[in-house]
Amino acid sequence: MGSKTRVLFVCLGNICRSPTAEAVFRDCVERAGLEDSFDVDSAGTGDWHVGGSPDARMQDHARRRGFDLSELRARQATIEDFHAFDWIVAMDRTNHRELEALRPAGRGSRLELMSRFFPEHEAELDVPDPYYGGERGFERVLDLLEHGCACLLEALRAEA
Ligand code: 4NP
Repeated sequence: MGSKTRVLFVCLGNICRSPTAEAVFRDCVERAGLEDSFDVDSAGTGDWHVGGSPDARMQDHARRRGFDLSELRARQATIEDFHAFDWIVAMDRTNHRELEALRPAGRGSRLELMSRFFPEHEAELDVPDPYYGGERGFERVLDLLEHGCACLLEALRAEA
């Protein structure tokens, strides 16, 4: 196979949903033995948390399912990302709208909503922001991303 498929996950702060998506998708890739075929990263549309670790609550919930987010650090999405990545996957419709506004003219990454890759029975259009909610919100993020990232990998393999 040719060059790597480069995938960037984007949410608002890059401390809850998109770092989780990065770790979950990377785990899917490794379990499939495809680590040489994918580059995975995450970023936020906002800059408040740049340089910071993922949210402690998100890290706790993720760790319980076997995902270690501790080494990840937040960064802000940039115009250059549209040249550096093949796919940019937005966690919710607001993230998608902000990325659409940032997108340079002409060719660039494919920009998609994460929910496009949810299994049929998931009617949700967004991975809901868990930041101001309770524990269930963090579990919901993990539920959606564990299913969604497995489906995303299948979709990208089918396209490759
Ligand atoms: P994320 O969650 O977009 O999933 O990383 C949030 C993190 C921080 C804030 C909002 C959402 N915030 O307002 O600081």
